[in-house]
This record gives sequence, C-alpha cells and structure tokens, in this order.
Amino acid sequence: MSSFLTETNLKWRARAREIAEKVVRPLAAKYDRLQEYPWEIKEAIAEAGLMGVWIPKEYGGQGGGVIDLCLCVEELSRACGGVGVLYAVNALGTFPILVGGTEEQKHQFLKPIAKGEKLISFGLSEKFAGSDAASLHATAVKDGDSYVLNGEKKWNTNGGAADIYTVFAVTDPASKSRRTSAIMVEKGTPGFTIGKVEDKMGIRCVPVVEIHFDNCRVPAKNLLGGTPGLGFKHAMQTLDMARPGVAAQAMGLAQGALEYAMVYAGYREQFGAPISSFQMIQALLADMATKTEAARNLVYVAALAVDNAAPNVSKLSAMCKLFATDTAMEVTTDAVQIFGGYGYMRDYPIEKYMRDAKITQIYEGTNQVQRMVVARSLVKESLGLKHLLNYIPKEVQKGVNDPATLKRLAEEAKRLAEETAAMDVPTHQS
Ligand code: CAA
Repeated sequence: MSSFLTETNLKWRARAREIAEKVVRPLAAKYDRLQEYPWEIKEAIAEAGLMGVWIPKEYGGQGGGVIDLCLCVEELSRACGGVGVLYAVNALGTFPILVGGTEEQKHQFLKPIAKGEKLISFGLSEKFAGSDAASLHATAVKDGDSYVLNGEKKWNTNGGAADIYTVFAVTDPASKSRRTSAIMVEKGTPGFTIGKVEDKMGIRCVPVVEIHFDNCRVPAKNLLGGTPGLGFKHAMQTLDMARPGVAAQAMGLAQGALEYAMVYAGYREQFGAPISSFQMIQALLADMATKTEAARNLVYVAALAVDNAAPNVSKLSAMCKLFATDTAMEVTTDAVQIFGGYGYMRDYPIEKYMRDAKITQIYEGTNQVQRMVVARSLVKESLGLKHLLNYIPKEVQKGVNDPATLKRLAEEAKRLAEETAAMDVPTHQS
C-alpha cells in the first residue's frame, strides 16, 4: 500500500524507520520501565529533521502534510507506541495554530517547534469535561492587554516536557456557540504550574499531567486568531486533522506486534513443528495481517483527505481512528496469545504493545465518540439520498407526502447543508 505515496512521502518514512530501528527499539523497554521522557530519542528525531515534517516551510517546517506525519508516527510506533505519541502530540498542539492562528502567532510558535527546539502540548480536557468538550470550566478573563487564566486541565500529554501549551478556556460564559477560546501559554509564566503526573498503564515514556492556572496572566496577543469565541471550532477542526495520527500510532503498534508474532510463531516449536504450521495460529496471523492492512489503507486515505481539505474529512478521520485503534487492541492481544506464557511476561516486548494500544481507543475522542461523529455524518448524507425513497416501503414513510412535513424536511435539509458547508476544514496547505 505505497503505490500512491510520493518520493517525498517515502523519504520521510525511510528516515523515521531508520530512527525507529537504530534508536527507538533498543531503548523502548528502558523508558517504559523508567517512565521518563526519552530526551535522547527526541534529539535523534529532531536531528533527522522530523519534528516539523507537517509544518509549512514558511514557518520553518518541512512542508509535508498529515500523510507524512502519519507515515512517521506509524514507523516510530512500530518500535514503541510511547514514542509514536510523544512525536504525534506535537502535531496535535500545533494544529490549532495552523487552523486558526494569526501570521504572527504562526511565526512565533511554529518555528521553534519545527526546529525541534521546543515541544508543545494540547490542553482541552478537564476533570469534568472529557467527551463533552464544550463543557469546559477553566476561564480566561480579559484584563487590559492580558488574559487571566484560572482553573485546571487534565490529561496533558507531553505536559512538563513541553515549553508551549495550547489551552482552551471559557472567555464568554454566557454564549452557547462562542463560549471558549484557545490561548497560547508558555512554560514559566507566573501562575502556571504542573500538577499531578500520571502513572500510566502504557505509553509510559511520555508524560501525561494535570496543569493548573492560578491568576496566570498571558498577553492578549496570545489569543489564537485574535478573535475570542472560536475555541470549540478550532478544537474540532484540530481533532479532525489529528485523529489520523492516533490511528497511525495504533496501526504502527498493530504492525509491530504482528511482526514479533510472525517471527515467534516461525521459531517456536510444539508437537514437533513450528507453531506457524498449525492452522489455528495461521488463521490468527492471517486475520491480524488483513485487519492491519485494512487499517493502513483507511489511515492513509483519511490523511490525504485532510491534506486535500476533502468535505467528508470529519467522518473519514473518525472512521480511521476507530477502526485502526480497535484493530490495534485486537491484534496486539492476539500477538500476546501467540507468544503464550512468554507474551504475558515483562521480559519480552510484546505485552507492552497491548498496554500501549489500549489508550488509542480512548484519547483524542473515545471510540464511542468517533462512532457518534460517523453516525451524525451518515444522517446528514442520507438527506441526499431521497431518490431511494421509491424503493423503501411507503408505509414507513407516513407523513412524507404531507405538505407541512415536506416543508419542515426541506428546511431541515437546508440547515444541515449550511452546517456541513461551514464545517469545511482548512488545512495548512490551503
Ligand atoms: N469542524 C468544525 N466545526 C465543528 C465540527 C468540526 N469537525 N464539529 C462540530 N463543529 C461545530 C458545529 O458545527 C457546531 O457549530 P454551531 O454552534 O455554529 O452550530 C458546534 O461545533 C457544536 O457542534 P456539536 O453540536 O456537534 O457539538 P457537541 O457538543 O455535540 O460535541 C463531539 C461534539 C463530537 C462529541 C465533541 O465534543 C468531541 O469531539 N468530543 C471529544 C473530545 C475529544 O476528542 N477530546 C480529546 C482531547 S485531546 C487528547 O486526548 C489529547 C491527548 O492526550 C493525546
């Protein structure tokens, strides 16, 4: 599945694969055990020029797209899922800037990240605002030429290691549709502190922390885009762009676990033969490989849809996230099964794949949320399929021929069409 990848895409993939094999794989177990940020790995990734792959050249990046980001995340995750997200989360933090930042903000914040000099973290979730991302409590109140932040954020991946934080906070509590804004906060700003550092099941080399704001004063020019109230839209557009990255992390994990399982099954002998000669093991391996390849195709298609600002990007992005991450959970669990007792032991790399895979079904929107996003898109699309009404039973269409109902449906279709048009996602290439 690389026939439509360009020479440049393949170049980034090859570079990421080299770092993954030479640097990441040998160190994966060590940093999983220590639960420490692997600065030496980050340096190797930065030296290879990968930190700004997805950032446009005018802001110091390599000018690639989400497809290049995904290829790099896939390769890194094949060796270590923690390193995959350590890398991808920088894209998550920068996407709001690319989507909604002013020119000045793009130059100020993207350039040091593209060079690998600074790291970034994305602060949306809170203790009481997870899947319901519109219900934030943290506030940012305008005071002269500053915003004063109060409250806390939860599940900040890269938190503590990062120098820059894209923080979503309530700027207009009375508004329903323009309640929140994104604000750029730099580490070291008085009133900004790192709170609880989480002790995690997987992705242990990358920190996940709480961050706290206590009358934290940031320059008003750090308000993303310069206009308050666009926070929720920026967050949703960001997640549309970022979810293929989580999917690539998951698919890389699935591929990595599959490869270990293939090698183990070829060498492990029972009943006088390698277990790979037994049909039950063969069926497991065949299903693992097929699902991983299907996930890969969906991830690449969604990434290219983001890069080409396709109208159905939210749906594809959610689809690839849910399919690739469910696949990763299944494939990594089956890989442990193939390894038998050895698979369950920390002495060997395979159980880490299963632990790392679990979070991919949860973060950047649970897979329940992804299914909701897909289903909502389908409901809208069904309005364009009215010609099929002739083929479904008339009796379940009660009221369809009633003029009042027809009028209401037409108004509803118009409103939904306008909403869909408003949801077109600008990319950093558009
Ligand atoms: N693009 C642009 N606009 C969008 C949009 C999109 N994809 N999705 C929704 N909107 C707009 C709607 O058009 C609507 O606009 P108007 O008010 O102008 O009409 C507005 O946003 C509200 O939309 P909804 O009614 O659909 O919003 P909702 O409250 O029902 O929520 C949701 C929808 C999909 C559940 C959303 O809240 C969501 O995605 N939740 C999951 C949050 C999430 O993914 N969190 C992850 C945190 S990051 C993380 O995990 C990082 C890490 O550690 C690595």
